Amino acid sequence: MSTPVKVAVAGVGQRGLQHVAALVALQEHEEARLVALADPNPDNLVETNIKQKVPAYRQRDIGLFDDVDDLIKEARPDAVLFVIPPNLHKREIVRAVRKGIHVLAEKPMTLFFDEAKEMADEIEKAGVISTVGFQMRYDNWYGVLREHLADKTMASVSMVVIAPVESHGVKHTAAEKLGGPKSRIWTAHRAWSGTTVVEAGIHQTDLMRFWGHDDVAWVQSAYVPRPAADVEEQGDNPIAYHVTYGFKKGWVASLIFTRPGRVMANERYDYILSSRSLVKFEDDLVGYWYEGKEFRPAKRPTDAELRHILARGPHQDAMGQHNTLKLDQAFVRAVSQQDQGLLKTDFRGGLNSLAAVLAANVSDERKGERVSIDAFSNSPQYAKYRTKPPAS
Ligand SMILES: NC(=O)c1ccc[n+]([C@@H]2O[C@H](COP(=O)([O-])OP(=O)(O)OC[C@H]3O[C@@H](n4cnc5c(N)ncnc54)[C@H](O)[C@@H]3O)[C@@H](O)[C@H]2O)c1
Repeated sequence: MSTPVKVAVAGVGQRGLQHVAALVALQEHEEARLVALADPNPDNLVETNIKQKVPAYRQRDIGLFDDVDDLIKEARPDAVLFVIPPNLHKREIVRAVRKGIHVLAEKPMTLFFDEAKEMADEIEKAGVISTVGFQMRYDNWYGVLREHLADKTMASVSMVVIAPVESHGVKHTAAEKLGGPKSRIWTAHRAWSGTTVVEAGIHQTDLMRFWGHDDVAWVQSAYVPRPAADVEEQGDNPIAYHVTYGFKKGWVASLIFTRPGRVMANERYDYILSSRSLVKFEDDLVGYWYEGKEFRPAKRPTDAELRHILARGPHQDAMGQHNTLKLDQAFVRAVSQQDQGLLKTDFRGGLNSLAAVLAANVSDERKGERVSIDAFSNSPQYAKYRTKPPAS
């Protein structure tokens, strides 16, 4: 067996703890060794606090740092997982990869696309292994669906995600000291989250690309602002988002996200239509199509004749820890074997998902203008939307 990969985590918050749990599990099989943690908030590095979420965590000789640059200098990890809020990046990834560190960056990799492009360029220049925290790419059903669609012509995807306004878990960033919300639920505030479509919807956007073997070419969107009377209580992210994506191969997708404050509904619908099947998530993963030779059979086929089980249920929540474990395992193995091909995306591959959600904001701001992803990413016309405002 090869020596364990020395991994560090920068940002030991809600999501960082999920990665710590995955790395501790991989440590048992000697695939990884968690060597250091970095977080500017000292409470997040206290062993008993970490153990509340990761009972198997042992402090032992793990290096603790308040700054990731110091961590890299002193703990000398092979790889770092960057798990910090997307508005707080200060070129740490660029400095890390210049030192030959392999990186997993959580989504959204930043709220400012020019910053992401620099990260991607530097990753390529350094030749390090890279990936993004899109754990749903490792989901078993979603993998089956991607295979099913591989030889079909995509037509349309409809996704509806109904969930309450962001309040989930306990955020660990001391946002109140950084000009952010006192509640610490930074995900509910546009300056920190970039909007729900950016912070959360990037997962669904990335899935559409993954299923359809394609990239987003353009976006058009309309958002509904949260009622002014609710903003103090619920944050200033819009309450509803309707986004249309056009893909390079010509198909379209709708992403509808809602985040009401006092409607505790949690539902998701997905309809995936190609020229040869309609796929739905039922108790099993099911595709509907007709296998007979005639285009218009004289007698309508029965539902049972049309229904094809692509994968048996039950389907575990695709966002769940089991898929984070698979993602982290793939990352550690890719580093160990120096094989980027073991990962389901590299950092640059994630840029199209990031550009699509950031450009969705731009489209809404410009009254539903159709925004080309290429133009958003490169043209001077959209430069002001890509750059980080100077620190005040
Ligand atoms: N893939 C997923 O399913 C998933 C789920 C949740 C969050 N996320 C993403 O993970 C990132 C972190 O979210 P979270 O929920 O853990 O937030 P959080 O506020 O709970 O934790 C972030 C942590 O990062 C620390 N931090 C801030 N700046 C830092 C720096 N420069 N160096 C080191 N640590 C720093 C904070 O002190 C905090 O402890 C976000 O980008 C978020 O979108 C991904």
